[in-house]
Amino acid sequence: MNTDEKSAIQSAADAAAAASRHLPVNERADAIEYAMAEALEKTAVKSTIYTSGEWDPTAPRPRAYVPGEHLLMDEDPRLQKMPAKPTLSDFFEKRFRPAKQHLLQSAALAKEAGHDEKVILACLLHDISVVGFIQSDHGYWGAQMVEPYVDEEIAWAIRYHQALRFFPDPEVGYEYPELYVKYFGRGYVPSTAMQEAHAYARKHKWYMTARLITINDIYSFDDRKTVELEEFTDIIGRNFRQPKEGLGNDHSSSAHMWRTIIAPTRFL
Ligand SMILES: [Fe+2]
Ligand SMILES: [Fe+2]
Repeated sequence: MNTDEKSAIQSAADAAAAASRHLPVNERADAIEYAMAEALEKTAVKSTIYTSGEWDPTAPRPRAYVPGEHLLMDEDPRLQKMPAKPTLSDFFEKRFRPAKQHLLQSAALAKEAGHDEKVILACLLHDISVVGFIQSDHGYWGAQMVEPYVDEEIAWAIRYHQALRFFPDPEVGYEYPELYVKYFGRGYVPSTAMQEAHAYARKHKWYMTARLITINDIYSFDDRKTVELEEFTDIIGRNFRQPKEGLGNDHSSSAHMWRTIIAPTRFL
C-alpha cells in the first residue's frame, strides 16, 4: 500500500464523514467504513461474520468475491500498521479495544494489594480475548492465546476465572457481582459447562490464583483514571516470554490467533 492509496482511503473516509454528519453515530460509522472499503483496491471481508451471531451461518452467504476484484490477503490498511515483529505491547497499543483499561486497572489493583507477579500478570491478561479477539468463552480463548508464553498457572487461572466469576466464595471475600444481576437477571443460572468447570477448579491446587483474578476483576472501570502499560513493563519482561520472531510469527500453538488479530480481514 503506497501513500497515494492510503490518502485515497483517508479522503474517502473524510468525504463519507462529512456527508453522513446528520446520521446517528452507528449509521455514520457504517457509512464511513463502507466508503473506506470501497476505496480499498482489494476487498476486505469480515471473517467473523459466521460466528458473530449477526448472520445465520446456514443462510446463503453474502458474496465476498466480485469478479475483477481481488480479495485482501494482508493487513487491512484501515488499521494501524503493526511492526514486523510485534510484541505484547504493540497489540495493546494498536489492536486492543479501549476496554483494555479494565485489564490495566485490574492489574494495578492486584499490584497495590501486594500480590505476586504471576497474579498481577494473570490480572493484566485475564480478558485479553475480550479486548482483542472474541468475547464468548473468553477465558478459554484468552488462556490459549497466552499459554505458550506464560507460566502454566497463569494460563490455567485465566481459563477458569470465566467460570469462577459466577460463583461466590464469601470466605475469601468474593460475592456474586451486582453487575451480573443487571446483565443477566436475578435468576440467571450458569451453564452446565460453567458449573462443572467451577466444581473442578474449586478443588484444584491453583484455585486461589484464578479466584484472585475474580477478586481483582473490577466491575466497572474508572474512566477518570488511566493506567499505562509501562507500569508493568518489568513484570511483563520477567513473566511473558516474548518470541524473538514476534507474536504471530513464531509457530507456537496460538500464533495463528495473534496473526488473526493483526489482520482480521485477511480472506484466508
Ligand atoms: Fe473475564
Ligand atoms: Fe474482567
